[in-house]
Amino acid sequence: MCGIVGYTGREDASPVLLDGLRRLEYRGYDSAGIVVAQGGTFTLAKSSGHVARLDELTRGGRDLPGNIGLGHTRWATHGQPTDTNAHPHISDGGKIAVVHNGIIENYARLREFLRSKGMSFQSQTDTEVATNLIAYFYAESGDILSAVASAARRMEGSYALGIMCEDMPGTLIATRRENPLVLGFGDGCNYLASDVAAILLHTRRVIRLADFEIAALTADSVTLYTGELDKLEREPETIEWDVSAAEKGGYEHFMIKEIMEQPEVVRKTLSPRIRNGEIILDGAEITDEYIRALSRIYIVACGSASYAGVVGKYSIEKLARIPAEVVFASEFRYCDPVLNANTLVICVSQSGTTADTIAAMREAKARGAKVLSIVNVVGSTIAEESDWTLYTWAGPEICVASTKGYSTQLALLYVLALRFARAKNTLSDAQFSEAVAALLVLPDKMEETLGLREELQYLASQYFSRDDMYYIGRGTDYALCLEACLKLKEISYIHSEAFAAGEMKHGPIALINRERETLVVAVATNRGLVDKTVSNIIELCSRGARVITVTTQSARTVIEGNDDIRGETVAVSDFYEAFLPSLAIIPLQFFAYYTALALGRDIDKPRNLAKSVTVE
Ligand code: M6R
Repeated sequence: MCGIVGYTGREDASPVLLDGLRRLEYRGYDSAGIVVAQGGTFTLAKSSGHVARLDELTRGGRDLPGNIGLGHTRWATHGQPTDTNAHPHISDGGKIAVVHNGIIENYARLREFLRSKGMSFQSQTDTEVATNLIAYFYAESGDILSAVASAARRMEGSYALGIMCEDMPGTLIATRRENPLVLGFGDGCNYLASDVAAILLHTRRVIRLADFEIAALTADSVTLYTGELDKLEREPETIEWDVSAAEKGGYEHFMIKEIMEQPEVVRKTLSPRIRNGEIILDGAEITDEYIRALSRIYIVACGSASYAGVVGKYSIEKLARIPAEVVFASEFRYCDPVLNANTLVICVSQSGTTADTIAAMREAKARGAKVLSIVNVVGSTIAEESDWTLYTWAGPEICVASTKGYSTQLALLYVLALRFARAKNTLSDAQFSEAVAALLVLPDKMEETLGLREELQYLASQYFSRDDMYYIGRGTDYALCLEACLKLKEISYIHSEAFAAGEMKHGPIALINRERETLVVAVATNRGLVDKTVSNIIELCSRGARVITVTTQSARTVIEGNDDIRGETVAVSDFYEAFLPSLAIIPLQFFAYYTALALGRDIDKPRNLAKSVTVE
């Protein structure tokens, strides 16, 4: 939700921090700040707005010399995105500097307590409370490590904290609870960051801090402690990601780069899971007996991940005949789900740190269900705490709007549906082999579908100025509409809604306005449902709508040959029907992207959003 970066070494810290913050901006971009120390004295710069503004303000960091520092890019939770509320925060008395990602839930009580001890506050943030709490314990003990440990014991909620103390020049302290923090090992320098992307340019050797652990970093050492301050030994792991995966690589935006990467990452995600015509679930060695005993599956996720779940529900029910239900993670605990040992909960999350999904996962486990997670970020909370974890190998997804994350989630949901189908014998050998063969060629078919890019760019240029756009479809086509509609609204800010095509006549059709020639995007790829969706399209056109229909090559003629339909047609290849959503989503992603581009939006960093939503 916020991005943290820290450096201690022999070089100037500011340029390293500014570069790291630019790479972390996907986590929040309301305001940014850095604190650097020289000979123990803090110099601070912070401002509302993007990191670029901070960069300008500090002349690329030249105004803040010093070999140790912390940086922060914020997604505001407590208090508006003002300069004062921006991090880092400095404690009352000036000894402690802190950057924070997360929410201190009992901040109001702690603030009262600290005020009663005579401490004062400048900002509205919970972070300043954490800062003063550490300062309070530091004043008592004179030991920064025990001050951090004491503060951590009193803070409720979630946090990743980077801390500097004026009396310990050269040392960074870090701790976390439910928010990611990695420590990076350099040569004569060390780093901390919310995400490896921030430090990958400098080092590939990292340790992921676990909940409640505390770390002390100097230029030459990294020391790990438990929350009780017992020393810990842990070897760093090596990150295999290609640095260029977190760069734009010549593309104008991460979003278009990530759309174009989809065939490749889906190939990476699928290939280790298919061996000699069978499905292998590496990381999820589920037995046939367990699958056969399943009475229900819940797919629990947020945003795009939940819409991938809707496609997954259709695949699982169609191929494996297990009842499946999709629930928003933010609602899961409140719908009092009926869970037992025969219920599987599938949590889907690109980041693996979404607070709502974490809470739902824990609720499911507490109620006796097993949790299988589909996660992209290795070592993230959801990945670590689930009974089984399947990684999507999408690489770093930087654009706030998910594209390749979503596509790799779809791929793994198909894989799961087939694994379940095999265990339950719901497909004949021939049907199973046909499905596996389709999965193997899916990345090639996606590659081919990327060829629609220019067509969609043209269509976006025709329609980008509309105030509203609606999406309709049936079955998995409806599931795709949910995702396509979210994509459009989050990056273009155009008002948009997705409807099950058959529902239009029950109310939403009143939205169609003849004078404004309301634009509707219809998805009609499902062979058995095309005729029904065509009827709905005609109902809309006869009331003045203009319709872009996304369909298959074979159904294209049905639509183009119908004089009652006004609009354009976009066709993807005919393909194995259960996996067609992976093709049909591509033109819809292009449409959202080029519409937002034509409107001059900040595509990779849309307003009010953040990539990793670590608050409930
Ligand atoms: O990291 P997660 O997959 O758990 O994130 C879930 C949603 O926050 C995410 O999909 C969000 O809806 C994206 N902005 C969609 O593009």
